Amino acid sequence: MITTAIYPGTFDPITNGHIDLVMRASKLFDRVIVAVAINPSKAPTFSLEERVALAKQTLADIESVEVCGFEGLLVDVAKQKGANVIIRGLRAVSDFEHEFQLAGMNRRMQPDVETLFLTPAEQFSYISSSLVREIAALGGDVSEFAAPCVVKALKEKLS
Ligand code: COA
Repeated sequence: MITTAIYPGTFDPITNGHIDLVMRASKLFDRVIVAVAINPSKAPTFSLEERVALAKQTLADIESVEVCGFEGLLVDVAKQKGANVIIRGLRAVSDFEHEFQLAGMNRRMQPDVETLFLTPAEQFSYISSSLVREIAALGGDVSEFAAPCVVKALKEKLS
């Protein structure tokens, strides 16, 4: 039986913290689907197409990883893709409450799909996409936090 996990997020943009989690998940599952949410409530800086393209470029070397964009309910996409596990990252205690709520609601809607939490390596525990965007917008160096193609895209988008 092929095991498939789905890792959803806004990925605005994908950072080294996200990559760390995808690498961990790829060791546990045969197939990992990185699902980029349209998420209009966050008014993302990058369009869905741009976020998907950056995630694809960044993750191209990790075998068994696919990237897709999605609109609608995560549990529906999980089902369509044959994923019975949702991966989410827990960086700090502050992530817990929101993640607990999401996991509970998703379980309520789709009891067959389990949420699995992974913790990133310590050096990525404080990264967030919005802080990376903020530093880039203010002219700071973000090459430590994201892949070169993302750093370039941030410069072009925010300069
Ligand atoms: N490394 C770096 N950053 C990380 C991270 C990691 N390992 N894990 C989380 N983050 C950051 C993200 O960069 C993001 O930072 P930002 O807010 O500063 O941009 C933040 O943590 C959380 O964002 P994200 O992981 O994208 O989650 P989200 O809360 O924005 O998105 C969805 C959550 C997309 C999974 C959720 O909204 C969803 O499922 N939407 C689909 C619709 C749906 O099904 N709704 C019902 C839900 S019950």
